[in-house]
Amino acid sequence: MSWDPAQYLKFSGERLRPALDLLARVPAAAPRAVVDLGCGAGNLMPLLRERWPQARLTGIDGSPQMLAKARADHPGIEFVQADVGAWRPAQPVDVLYSNATLHWLDGHESLFPRLLESVAPGGWLAVQMPRNFGAPSHTGVRDTIENGPWRARLEPHLRPSPVAGPQFYWRLLHAKAAALEIWETEYLLALRGDNPVAEFVKGSWLKPFLDRLEEPERSAFEADYRARVLAAYQPEANGSTLFPFRRLFIVAQRG
Ligand SMILES: C[S@@+](CC[C@H](N)C(=O)[O-])C[C@H]1O[C@@H](n2cnc3c(N)ncnc32)[C@H](O)[C@@H]1O
Repeated sequence: MSWDPAQYLKFSGERLRPALDLLARVPAAAPRAVVDLGCGAGNLMPLLRERWPQARLTGIDGSPQMLAKARADHPGIEFVQADVGAWRPAQPVDVLYSNATLHWLDGHESLFPRLLESVAPGGWLAVQMPRNFGAPSHTGVRDTIENGPWRARLEPHLRPSPVAGPQFYWRLLHAKAAALEIWETEYLLALRGDNPVAEFVKGSWLKPFLDRLEEPERSAFEADYRARVLAAYQPEANGSTLFPFRRLFIVAQRG
């Protein structure tokens, strides 16, 4: 899919909080090689630089649009275009950090053990993924697909459960981990603006479907989705729209 950094970063404050919460739980003291897997526009690099000033930072991402912004904003950092599903580091890394990316990949049962193996013994794998695919923000995408003339074209691209439950990841990783911490947090986002939940999702989960349509269907699809979301997330009296958003966190130390 193609990414639009401007749309994605409209909610950079709300998207930053879980990235910080993940980083706070990684106990690495002075890692030499730190990789941000699915680094997007490189917006988390200042956090990683501040936390580990001595580390060599590398950002990996598949999107040329995101990487163009990352390279422009962070000229001193190496960014590599690669498919995370096929990526292997030349040397095992000390911290492999991945925020809001791995839910875009299938095959977690082989992906996660392989990522842990890409970490040096004693190093850390740190992952955060959204897990609110049963919320109206995301079921609304399915409902729009299933109730429009685009159904046959878009339905094959629906991924029903991109992220499994916490137990699944514990069972996958514990045998190879010296330490393993897995938890979920539901953030209550209080968003401002017109139909802000639809705007939020438009920067991520909705985009691959919009990209597959031409006008006028594209606008009709978006209007249908926006109406469903607005019905499910009504503004509060002060104008804020409350958007509960659950996320899964994994911090594993390679044994
Ligand atoms: C939601 S953004 C997250 C960006 C950044 N980590 C952050 O937290 O702001 C997801 C990123 O994952 C990248 N991505 C998704 N699937 C990928 C894949 N198979 N290979 C490489 N990058 C991928 C996208 O290009 C996008 O930049």
